[in-house]
Amino acid sequence: MKNLNQLHYFEVPTVMKHGLGAVKHLPAELAALGVKKPLIVTDGGVVKAGLLDQVLQPLREAGVAHEIYDEVVFNPDLKTVAGGTERYLKAGCDGLVALGGGSSMDTAKAVGVEIVHGEPVLEYECAEGKKELSKRIPPLVCIPTTAGTGSEVTLWAVITDPARKYKFNVGGPLLAAHLALVDPLLHLSLPAEMTAGTGMDALCHAIECYTCAYAQPQTDAVALLAIEYVGKYLRRAVANGQDVEARYYMAMAAMLAGLSYGVESAGAVHAMTQTAGGIFPLHHGLAVAATLVPVMEYNWMGEPAKYARIALALGVDTFGLSEREAALAAVEEVRSLVKDIGIPSLREMGITEKDIPMLAQEAFNDPQTIGNPRDLTVQSYEQIYRRALEL
Ligand SMILES: [Fe+2]
Repeated sequence: MKNLNQLHYFEVPTVMKHGLGAVKHLPAELAALGVKKPLIVTDGGVVKAGLLDQVLQPLREAGVAHEIYDEVVFNPDLKTVAGGTERYLKAGCDGLVALGGGSSMDTAKAVGVEIVHGEPVLEYECAEGKKELSKRIPPLVCIPTTAGTGSEVTLWAVITDPARKYKFNVGGPLLAAHLALVDPLLHLSLPAEMTAGTGMDALCHAIECYTCAYAQPQTDAVALLAIEYVGKYLRRAVANGQDVEARYYMAMAAMLAGLSYGVESAGAVHAMTQTAGGIFPLHHGLAVAATLVPVMEYNWMGEPAKYARIALALGVDTFGLSEREAALAAVEEVRSLVKDIGIPSLREMGITEKDIPMLAQEAFNDPQTIGNPRDLTVQSYEQIYRRALEL
């Protein structure tokens, strides 16, 4: 039960602008932020897909100087961030543009932290004994090329520390983007598998944040609409990448689900996938998609009424069902979505039974275990992992 005596707050420092062709407005938006030479943080896949060109064109036409850092890798680590910081300083940049999925956006946020604080982002990990962010990052415009992570509006960046094989969080309002510029036309070329994985990540953010102990009315409101949009549009976006309407609403779903984080964290799925993603080269969205149903099977009992409402948001006809039946229908609906869009199991991603005890222990130690709607133990994580191996 939520503690109503505690002071809750919801803060979004990010302005959100969205629409088809939104990237055309980038030069004007940078000028409004006072940025004369941005560092564009992106990855090779985005360059190859021609998306960087789509962003560079308006910058060239407007004569905006810029520097490109296209060395972001998925699950970006401390070296990726340090490389971006070095490039920013060397080129004399005064702002950041992140173009890509969560990896590029999180890298840009972390580069921003290093620029204003003058030391490695690792010093600012959300963990005991580490420092609090004390300065606002330089102006950052996030342009997502996937509809999933929601990093364009979250207060978080997830960075891998290779020495510990651990993905750590750094966050707070000082780290958030100044502007989320969302152009669903950039999403049309995203392959079906990535559309599926990232879309499920958005759904998972909404479900975990809606049902976790940190939920509050503001986050509930955005989470429910995000769930509704995913239910209506994810299959269409996977089936036909050129479905602009589906792409638009999936982009909105990702943004709303990002907002559903509020100032807090998620739950068991993210505890599992973030820790596993530090050890194995897993795609975050696909790992989330493979883990979500087994976690929902475990969690529904902690928040049966909310689970029943998730079923409704997903379009399930719950008329005449008991609360328990409706809650379980939410689990089944997500299971059928996962099946329809062809999500591989954790086993197909290379995880085996022998990895489970270690992975379960790591997930249990993750700070996102706290706040999950049902109490967790190492054994319950083992049980969930065993279910996720098969799917
Ligand atoms: Fe996620």
